[in-house]
Amino acid sequence: MQIIKNIEEIQAVRKKMRGSVGFVPTMGALHQGHLTLIRKAREENDHVVVSIFVNPTQFLPGEDLDEYPRREEADRKICELAGVDILFMPATDAMYHRDEVTLKAPPYLGYILEGHRRPGHFDGVVQIVMKLFGLMQPTRAYFGRKDAQQLRILKKMAEDLFLPVEIVPVDTVREDDGLALSSRNVYLNPEERERALSISKSLKRASRLVMAGETDAEAIKLAMREIMRGIDVEYIAVVDRDFMPLEKVEIKNTLILVAAKVGKTRLIDNIWL
Ligand code: PAJ
Repeated sequence: MQIIKNIEEIQAVRKKMRGSVGFVPTMGALHQGHLTLIRKAREENDHVVVSIFVNPTQFLPGEDLDEYPRREEADRKICELAGVDILFMPATDAMYHRDEVTLKAPPYLGYILEGHRRPGHFDGVVQIVMKLFGLMQPTRAYFGRKDAQQLRILKKMAEDLFLPVEIVPVDTVREDDGLALSSRNVYLNPEERERALSISKSLKRASRLVMAGETDAEAIKLAMREIMRGIDVEYIAVVDRDFMPLEKVEIKNTLILVAAKVGKTRLIDNIWL
């Protein structure tokens, strides 16, 4: 595995690559969720590139940029074992310039739900992912369904800007007890972790209700809120695949999304119905 930190070097290496390139952008502190993306990329491509970059422009003032877990040694080992060809870890200054061209997330998709709670967050995400795409010129790029809105926006970016990249979605990886894996789970103490389980439980309940024939979005949200009464729910949304609100669940076209704070930790999760 080659570890590259320098922009000119990654460009030179990319130029020499022949065949398909699978790309997995991350912010590090890698876990089984990331590893699943990497494995899929390994199966489907000649070359696999993983980037680790804690992108400052997608964090809002007061968010956890400084505390965000950094695990360079462990991350290297994980990538090496997973058969990654290139691990790209640029310095912050190398990725951004003065007075630069800036992209904006779509005015609707980028500013509802997560974008409403974290205004500007998705602007930072599209900016960095576009830069990384520019450097890596991937054939396929892999993103988790765990971050459903991010995935939708990046797919839209690829479409709107006619990028020659296939955006590949990957299912959410969970702990045995249902908790969606996240780099931010390390912030949870045992008591908070227990309470955080109510998020995935509420989504499971929603899915059971739908299977039993319930389609009313309000009724589903109410049942979910009841299960999550021990945590600080920011939103529960029932939307279609384009994130338009739904009053009635449409099978194969519905997403239920949750954001909640457990102690100081903000967590998101969702299910696709
Ligand atoms: P990060 O949070 O490190 O996530 C990197 C990728 O892993 C994302 O596509 C995310 O959806 C996926 N992922 C995280 N947890 C997962 C889980 N439990 N199951 C499946 N996939 C999971 O998302 C980002 O970084 C950044 O916003 C980034 C796209 C790298 C831009 O900075």
